[in-house]
Amino acid sequence: MILYLNGQYLPREQALIPVEDRGFIFGDGIYEGVRAVGGKMFEWAAHADRMENGLKGLRINFNRARIDALEAVCERVVQENGLVDGEAFLYLQVSRGAAPRTHFFPPATVPPTVFVSASKLVVPRKMRDEGCSAVTFPDMRWKRRDWKTVNLLGNVLARQAASEAGAYEAILHEDGIVTEGAATNVFAVIDGVLTTHPLTERILPGITRKVLMELIAEQRIALKEAPIPFAKLAGAEEIFVCGSTTDVTPVVTLDGKTVGNGKPGPLTVKLREAFEARLYQAAAAH
Ligand SMILES: Cc1ncc(COP(=O)(O)O)c(C=O)c1O
Repeated sequence: MILYLNGQYLPREQALIPVEDRGFIFGDGIYEGVRAVGGKMFEWAAHADRMENGLKGLRINFNRARIDALEAVCERVVQENGLVDGEAFLYLQVSRGAAPRTHFFPPATVPPTVFVSASKLVVPRKMRDEGCSAVTFPDMRWKRRDWKTVNLLGNVLARQAASEAGAYEAILHEDGIVTEGAATNVFAVIDGVLTTHPLTERILPGITRKVLMELIAEQRIALKEAPIPFAKLAGAEEIFVCGSTTDVTPVVTLDGKTVGNGKPGPLTVKLREAFEARLYQAAAAH
């Protein structure tokens, strides 16, 4: 496996970072997860926008030109690993760099650590077709979830709870509302209306969510962008989760109880098809 680290393409064993890296010590960094189809990055510009916003939020010195240059890096990492045919998942991380441990920032001369890797993505079609199980879990994350920081403890503990329950995803809630999934955004059909949390600091602005919003508008599907009351989730007619490796995945069991009639609902299926058409069309257009 070949990785990109600080300007070099290296075998995995040679890609090493100092123990004082602030990504390791403080979780002081931003990451991205990007889908590649046929060697091309899906919705690169949107990922770059989100990364820029997070890096500015953390005040890490890594400008837009450097973010934009990572698209070609991603393409090369995909090629170096023989992943051009088919699908891949790109992981990108920019930390504030390595310096003796102080809570305040190191001198501006310390360069950020920049890392990109690619792995083969095998789409779990059966789970997309038949749906997945989810559990609910308290949202215990910090307040700036709109920045995609590498501080993911709340997400890690939630996904572990899901995994231990034999479920795919954990749907998070706080103050009586549903926020999002541990690594996905959440949509539900409540009282006949497709509903999802609005873009605020409480959730990550998912790129899959963004594409779905465009498709929902194109298809003139009624949508309520409002927090889903947690008390209403179990009675939802349909629930689905979405993300760069999840696409649109129906949730058919929640906390061990059937959602709707236990099968992917009609709106979920419609949006899944529209999303996949857009994903693979974008690749074919390149
Ligand atoms: C907390 C959280 N919400 C939502 C998403 C979905 O975002 P995207 O569609 O950009 O992959 C992710 C993806 O990793 C995530 O970690």
